[in-house]
Amino acid sequence: MAGGCLTLLTTVLAFGAANVHASTESFPSDAWTVLSQAVGGRLSEAKPIALPCFSYYDGQLNQRNDSACAAVEAGYTSPTYRVANFGDYMMSHWETCQSTSEQCILDSSDPSNPQAWQQYNCSQGSIAPHYIDVRSAFDVQAAYTFSALTKTPLVIKNSGHDYKGRSSQKGALALWMHNLQDMSWSKNFVPWGCPTSNSYAAMTAGAGVGWQTAYEYADANNFTIIGGYHQTVGVSGGWAMGGGHSILTPVYGLGVDRVLQFKIVTPDGIYRIANECQNTDLFWALRGGGGGTFGVVLESTHRVEPNPIPIQVASLNFTANSTNTHGWLSIVVNSSYKWGTEGWGGHIGPANLINVTPLLSLDEAKESLQEASDYVTAQGGSVVIETLPSWYAFFAKYVISAQSAVGQEYLLGSRLMPSALFQTNEGKQQILDALINMLPSANPYIVVGTPFLYNQTAGATSINPVWYDSLWHLSFHTLFTFNSTLDEKKAAYQTGNDIVATLRAIAPDSGAYMNEGLVYEPDYEHSFWGSNYNQLLSIKNKYDPYGLLDCWTCVGWSGQSDPKYSCYLNLSD
Ligand SMILES: Cc1cc2nc3c(=O)[nH]c(=O)nc-3n(C[C@H](O)[C@H](O)[C@H](O)COP(=O)(O)OP(=O)(O)OC[C@H]3O[C@@H](n4cnc5c(N)ncnc54)[C@H](O)[C@@H]3O)c2cc1C
Ligand SMILES: *[C@@H]1O[C@H](CO)[C@@H](O)[C@H](O)[C@H]1NC(C)=O
Ligand SMILES: *[C@@H]1O[C@H](CO)[C@@H](O)[C@H](O)[C@H]1NC(C)=O
Ligand SMILES: *[C@@H]1O[C@H](CO)[C@@H](O)[C@H](O)[C@H]1NC(C)=O
Ligand SMILES: *[C@@H]1O[C@H](CO)[C@@H](O)[C@H](O)[C@H]1NC(C)=O
Ligand SMILES: *[C@@H]1O[C@H](CO)[C@@H](O)[C@H](O)[C@H]1NC(C)=O
Ligand SMILES: *[C@@H]1O[C@H](CO)[C@@H](O)[C@H](O)[C@H]1NC(C)=O
Ligand SMILES: *[C@@H]1O[C@H](CO)[C@@H](O)[C@H](O)[C@H]1NC(C)=O
Ligand SMILES: *[C@@H]1O[C@H](CO)[C@@H](O)[C@H](O)[C@H]1NC(C)=O
Repeated sequence: MAGGCLTLLTTVLAFGAANVHASTESFPSDAWTVLSQAVGGRLSEAKPIALPCFSYYDGQLNQRNDSACAAVEAGYTSPTYRVANFGDYMMSHWETCQSTSEQCILDSSDPSNPQAWQQYNCSQGSIAPHYIDVRSAFDVQAAYTFSALTKTPLVIKNSGHDYKGRSSQKGALALWMHNLQDMSWSKNFVPWGCPTSNSYAAMTAGAGVGWQTAYEYADANNFTIIGGYHQTVGVSGGWAMGGGHSILTPVYGLGVDRVLQFKIVTPDGIYRIANECQNTDLFWALRGGGGGTFGVVLESTHRVEPNPIPIQVASLNFTANSTNTHGWLSIVVNSSYKWGTEGWGGHIGPANLINVTPLLSLDEAKESLQEASDYVTAQGGSVVIETLPSWYAFFAKYVISAQSAVGQEYLLGSRLMPSALFQTNEGKQQILDALINMLPSANPYIVVGTPFLYNQTAGATSINPVWYDSLWHLSFHTLFTFNSTLDEKKAAYQTGNDIVATLRAIAPDSGAYMNEGLVYEPDYEHSFWGSNYNQLLSIKNKYDPYGLLDCWTCVGWSGQSDPKYSCYLNLSD
């Protein structure tokens, strides 16, 4: 990028930022045309995906189209369908304006339910009305300039998996990262500007690449990349910048532990490379400070492991009834510290467990889980403990085939559970009581995905440091539906807040995963970043001097009273 061009851009940004009080109505009406030309015509208007099902759109008659509507219904709960459409999000409620019920969604439990389009008219909701299909750093620079000059807020959307609605925003100009799909790898990757002695086996993925695509590429090239438990979560976006857990994290670390380099356009308009040798403050901030905050990432590079990595897999489940979940959870809580030392990672529920470890032999794995297996067998359940040759073999067999449906109005809550609690009888009892107390209103979803055994480099990441001393990322969900009333939505969020309050009471000095915490997390700065928050805020102010990027409970967040957050709920009303 030529220096002259940069200077011009910086001047334009400064000019735009100086006119902070300019009315949005006063910006030239042809501004959108100019922007469209600047980005090679890749500026589009976005419409809700379910529009063909509806008879009215934003107050106007709309011609319902049965065949197009049937296609939307067929894809409605499929992540691969949703990820390919700009206007679709993995949780439907982030397409709606929750506070006003302006929406254009279907019934996720039965997408053909006509109530969804008979009782509601189609509204744009919180889907950004314009988006740029980003292909280069220049597209991002054009968007920053446009935003600074017109005061149009920006939002970055990759896969649309965000649980807090940070990739959709009513009235914003969106940057859609999905089509940056390049991948490459090297046995001797040297971060840009580092000495050649800093060499790593590494894979680079464009911002739009999702995990299944990355796993297939890695397997085809005979190496393993450590990533998330869902086909379409992005490799380079919110996952990599906010934490990034894998069920192999206990041994191999989090995404933020393994990332080597980001290519990013910071909101001051400059295209930068951040790694251990340059822009090191920015690199640290990107390793945990969160997506949508410090700039727009175009690609990321991650350390990889040579194959083969054989893993022991345990899949246990039984039919829950009113009496048999307590005994199971008691065994789980009691065994968790020992399981942690054996490298197990995975997901555990009130009547199931799917865990893996690369550290044990098959016999050791069976012995480790003997008590749990006996319990499941006694409930008439199923126990499979087997060796698979690789992470990819596991993913193909256990994850793709059992892909969780999306499209539901899921609300998460969570807390990182400190290892020390699992080492005393009192602590174990407190955890067990908390799990049992939440059962009537929400099922615990225990993510054994903290870097418990991983040998971290102290201070290398900016996530809440409590991650490294925790054994569980303990989560759960509550939900509402396409036709919930405002009070029902508030109640669903409030139930989550109340459950997390009980977890916070037994782990008051801990925190929560910024990507999978409460939408309405109190004291979110401490919960998500702990002692790292102040440093993150000063780095945010350095690289985003005009405040062009802002997102809900992100570092430097403008707060709920900012009109761009009018679609969020005020739970205390
Ligand atoms: C079904 C499901 C499964 C999940 N599984 C896991 C898991 O196994 N492990 C785990 O750790 N998390 C998991 N998550 C949570 C996931 O990490 C977060 O939802 C994360 O925010 C997704 O990031 P994304 O970029 O894919 O999504 P998006 O919703 O597109 O973006 C999320 C945030 O990142 C920002 N962002 C996206 N792309 C960029 C970019 N290129 N540059 C700058 N900012 C960007 C957005 O503005 C937004 O703030 C899961 C979520 C769901 C819904
Ligand atoms: C209805 O949708 C189908 C498929 O999406 C399209 O081919 C067709 O032209 C549409 N019909 C009308 C009347 O718009
Ligand atoms: C939909 O919009 C039409 C036209 O404005 C209006 O008559 C109708 O009452 C609306 N229906 C609903 C459910 O809001
Ligand atoms: C951490 O380091 C110790 C000491 O070098 C080593 O024994 C152990 O295997 C390492 N743990 C992991 C998970 O790599
Ligand atoms: C994969 O790499 C390993 C070494 O890491 C090697 O032993 C093995 O033969 C390779 N397999 C294939 C199919 O190339
Ligand atoms: C256990 O899970 C398998 C695979 O999902 C399923 O087929 C089986 O019905 C489940 N068994 C019980 C007892 O829930
Ligand atoms: C808890 O686990 C220990 C071994 O880790 C075992 O000795 C003890 O009996 C277990 N207690 C209960 C109540 O299961
Ligand atoms: C729960 O299931 C177990 C195992 O099948 C059984 O022994 C027990 O009686 C059941 N309890 C209830 C309340 O159904
Ligand atoms: C929502 O729809 C469901 C199923 O169609 C129905 O049972 C329920 O009563 C509706 N709720 C409201 C608040 O309208």
